[in-house]
Amino acid sequence: MSTVIKNGTVITADLSYHADVRVEHGVITEIGPDLKGDTELDATGCYVMPGGIDPHTHLEMPFMGTYSSDDFESGTRAALAGGTTMVVDFALPNPGESLLDALKRWDNKSTRANCDYSFHMAVTWWGEQVFDDLKTVIETRGINTFKHFMAYKGALMVNDDEMYASFKRLAELGGTAMVHAENGDVVAELSAKLLAEGNTGPEAHAYSRPPQVEGEATNRAIMIADMAGVPLYVVHTSCEEAHEAIRRAKMQGKRVWGEPLIQHLTLDESEYFNQDWDHAARRVMSPPFRNKQHQDSLWNGLQSGSLSVVATDHCAFTTDQKRFGVGDFTKIPNGTGGLEDRMPMLWTHGVNTGRLTPNEFVAVTSTNIAKILNCYPKKGAVLVGADADLVVWDPEKGKTISAKSQQSSIDYNVFEGKEVKGLPRFTLTRGQVAVHDGEIRTQEGHGQFVEREANTTVNKALSTWKELTAPRPVVRTGIPATGV
Ligand code: URP
Ligand code: ZN
Ligand code: ZN
Ligand code: ZN
Repeated sequence: MSTVIKNGTVITADLSYHADVRVEHGVITEIGPDLKGDTELDATGCYVMPGGIDPHTHLEMPFMGTYSSDDFESGTRAALAGGTTMVVDFALPNPGESLLDALKRWDNKSTRANCDYSFHMAVTWWGEQVFDDLKTVIETRGINTFKHFMAYKGALMVNDDEMYASFKRLAELGGTAMVHAENGDVVAELSAKLLAEGNTGPEAHAYSRPPQVEGEATNRAIMIADMAGVPLYVVHTSCEEAHEAIRRAKMQGKRVWGEPLIQHLTLDESEYFNQDWDHAARRVMSPPFRNKQHQDSLWNGLQSGSLSVVATDHCAFTTDQKRFGVGDFTKIPNGTGGLEDRMPMLWTHGVNTGRLTPNEFVAVTSTNIAKILNCYPKKGAVLVGADADLVVWDPEKGKTISAKSQQSSIDYNVFEGKEVKGLPRFTLTRGQVAVHDGEIRTQEGHGQFVEREANTTVNKALSTWKELTAPRPVVRTGIPATGV
């Protein structure tokens, strides 16, 4: 049985051309003119692109006294509805717990996925067990990316000594370090001060995490990663200070990548101020939404290439869950959704405005991600032999985003009322049509785990690694003469 996508324009990260695409047994088997298939999908007027990859989700994650409300079923259904065909979720060990035990929980949850998925792991504590587990996870579980929380003091946060130890171990093993870059000590201080002064509402969340908190932590993580000799991926880059640090590091030849979220690119801090409590609390996430100046910086980064990918950090909580924080903003579960909206929102605000070309859109939503995470060209490509994770994108199709018609299981949408133009006509997950013109035909459990090997070639290209590990010349021996 073959499926042919007919009469579309293939758009990859570097090419645009008219061709039909044949899919058999879940992979692309031929690209060329006038192909015939058992089933034909009409892509007239559409772009045929690699399906989106969302490198940052939290599905059914235990966090701040509750669980995020989208699980692997509803989360991946939302993803497919918006043209995303792979998600990468964070498996979180409890402090003291082995990484392998934590992974078992994520293995169990993910059996319900409608599309392919992979895992990052978080390093939430440090010890001999984690030192050993990292090797096992990288060598036997196909996971090569590890997040370190520099914030959430008293919960997920690790200190600099732990981070440095972990980074050095990852450098040895060919892993990539990831950071949630906010100075957790300063956030804790500012939060306590705001609460003591009677600022209990959701807007205080934004005051407690100013851009400096993120800029400082991003700089620190970059320097520690450089000393450890490990590539660094900075998640949810939201402000100019953090972007500047990443840009500078890249210009110095360091392997550092920044990941802005679609939320930070398109929503700003006015979502917190002069709003009703629910409106603001639903938008509480870390880092918080920023002002226009920071948004411009993020867009500039995507255009220039100093920022590499666009994610969602999809971590959806219902209004009832957000209300845990009535009277104390530090108890509002942090997180927002976006899986279904990332691709249409980025197309609308990126491609339709002329900021990004369609090829750049493919790069930042899919191909760059697959390359950084080391699953290219199985994912992120329209090439013979690649998985048939494809989106047939109709640039003329529009809608108004609304919680009433979304796949996510929560009761609101942070993009409510926003018009988008550019939506999937078809979304294919390994050759299966999961979405056709808004009609959802997903299959629970269809998703498979994507293994990602250690990235040894990237480590070799680091700038200062050799210098730092080279034997040092002995400058001086013996007792210095007096007066020196
Ligand atoms: O507020 C956020 N970002 N919640 C999800 C967890 C994280 O920090 O990524
Ligand atoms: Zn984070
Ligand atoms: Zn996150
Ligand atoms: Zn149709």
